[in-house]
Amino acid sequence: MNILAIETSCDETSAAVTMDGRVLSNVVSSQRCHTGFGGVVPELASREHERLIVAITEAAVTEANITKKELDIIAATAGPGLIGAVMVGLCFAQGLAYALDIPFIAVNHIEAHIFSPFIDEGDTAGPPEERFVSLTVSGGHTLLAVVEPDLSYEIIGRTLDDAAGEAFDKTGKMLGLDYPAGPEIDRLAMSGDPFFHEFPRALTSHSRTSRNYRGNADFSFSGLKTSVLTYLQKHSASFIESHLPDIAASVQRAIVGVLVEKTIEAAVSRGIRSVSVAGGVSANSALRETMKTACGEKGLSLHIPGTRFSTDNAAMIATLADLRLSRGMKPERRYDTAPYASFEAEAAKKAKLK
Ligand code: KG4
Ligand code: ZN
Repeated sequence: MNILAIETSCDETSAAVTMDGRVLSNVVSSQRCHTGFGGVVPELASREHERLIVAITEAAVTEANITKKELDIIAATAGPGLIGAVMVGLCFAQGLAYALDIPFIAVNHIEAHIFSPFIDEGDTAGPPEERFVSLTVSGGHTLLAVVEPDLSYEIIGRTLDDAAGEAFDKTGKMLGLDYPAGPEIDRLAMSGDPFFHEFPRALTSHSRTSRNYRGNADFSFSGLKTSVLTYLQKHSASFIESHLPDIAASVQRAIVGVLVEKTIEAAVSRGIRSVSVAGGVSANSALRETMKTACGEKGLSLHIPGTRFSTDNAAMIATLADLRLSRGMKPERRYDTAPYASFEAEAAKKAKLK
């Protein structure tokens, strides 16, 4: 079974080919055109996807060493994401599937992140045969879910305000770092003191105000943002400059501390023995390390994607399509899926249809 997958939900144009679930190619082009804007400019993102989509797809098929005629199925992200950006990849993928007269599978980007720790490069076992707790942390989403062996899941916690990636990007912006600031904070923090300053960890055992944090699997990062802003206003430019790595390490420790505590508590309180972490922020070295140590202490197994599969990529789209097919999904020759922007709105629509 050869699957070609396309991903264009934000600022990565990506195409991948899998054969029987194993990745043969995964071509990713990260857009540079947003530098200096402090974030992704939706219109520029759509145009850049349009410019690159054909070449990236050709490259993925060539690298996989197959021809388009050997493709059995095409999959693409249908949302959530920037609606214009999603539309470019989705329309292209459905058009190509129609032209090749093969079925099409629409994939939810966040669900694909959830299963990205099980992307198979020849050495990865599939998802665990028992339920697991999944933490998905990206630029737009922070979700805790309990995932069942049949790939269904229940969301048990989400952010009440900013996503974890946004917390990195926005505090980084205050520190004068370019977008996306997450990787730069990660790099700076390596030479900094994480205990230099105590930033707030809302809705956790470290929070001074939330007494009922136990069992609360939701997240909140807006207070951290305000706290960093206030801290920076109280200190001189030269102090901040000379302590940039320490401040970055302290901010990172606060974000990572929240993510790890909530994930471990969600698993332990439910008697679940497996944990996974995915999404762009799962590339963070402190999160990977701290989660590994915490899981080790509690005897939990940890599933985390290789860093190149943490950020957006089409291999995770192909992987989820393949997992669904292997669990009995019957793909259709239908090419009328509409893009959607919001995870919540789509989930509510699905619930209504039941
Ligand atoms: O999953 P992703 O590539 O795109 C979305 O679906 O949003 O996630 C992007 C997010 C950005 O906020 C970026 O700053 C963050 O992931 N990120 C990191 C690291 N690498 C990417 N955050 C912290 N440390 C990193 N090493
Ligand atoms: Zn993503």
